[in-house]
Amino acid sequence: MSTVAVYPGSFDPVTNGHLDIIERSAKVFDHVVVAVLHNRNKTPLFSVEERVQMLKEATKDMANIEIDAFHGLLIDYIRSREAGVIVRGLRAVSDFEYEMQAASINRKLDTNVETFFMMTNNQYSYLSSSIVKEVAKYNADVTDLVPQSVKAALQRKYGEAVDQKD
Ligand code: PNS
Repeated sequence: MSTVAVYPGSFDPVTNGHLDIIERSAKVFDHVVVAVLHNRNKTPLFSVEERVQMLKEATKDMANIEIDAFHGLLIDYIRSREAGVIVRGLRAVSDFEYEMQAASINRKLDTNVETFFMMTNNQYSYLSSSIVKEVAKYNADVTDLVPQSVKAALQRKYGEAVDQKD
């Protein structure tokens, strides 16, 4: 039986750290659904449609990846996709408490779904979507932090030349 894994997140925007987890998950699981949350509690920089589009562009050469969006509880979405696995990246000890809570409540809601954690590649251990937005807002170079299409989208959002390297 093939294993479908869901990698959920805000992806506002996708970073090279997320892409590292996506690439590595695709080697472990048969099919990986990267699922963007419609989160009414947060005010995102990018709309869900923009985030989905950036993820599609960044993963277009990867074989067993699908990009989707979901509302509501993750576990309901997991069931609707008949997935058995949630993938999450862990950067540092500071991620652990929230992730342990989330994995525990998800297991309580459905004991058939397992959460798999992947240690983020060391070179991205400091990287987050928030840090990328902060840096881009002040026109610093984000070339090594995000894919090219995201860098271009950040430039458009902030209306400034983010690029200082080229
Ligand atoms: O990229 P993020 O913001 O760290 O991702 C968090 C996400 C989307 C995985 C989490 O907020 C989530 O699953 N939200 C859906 C609502 C839900 O199921 N909550 C209970 C488990 S935390």
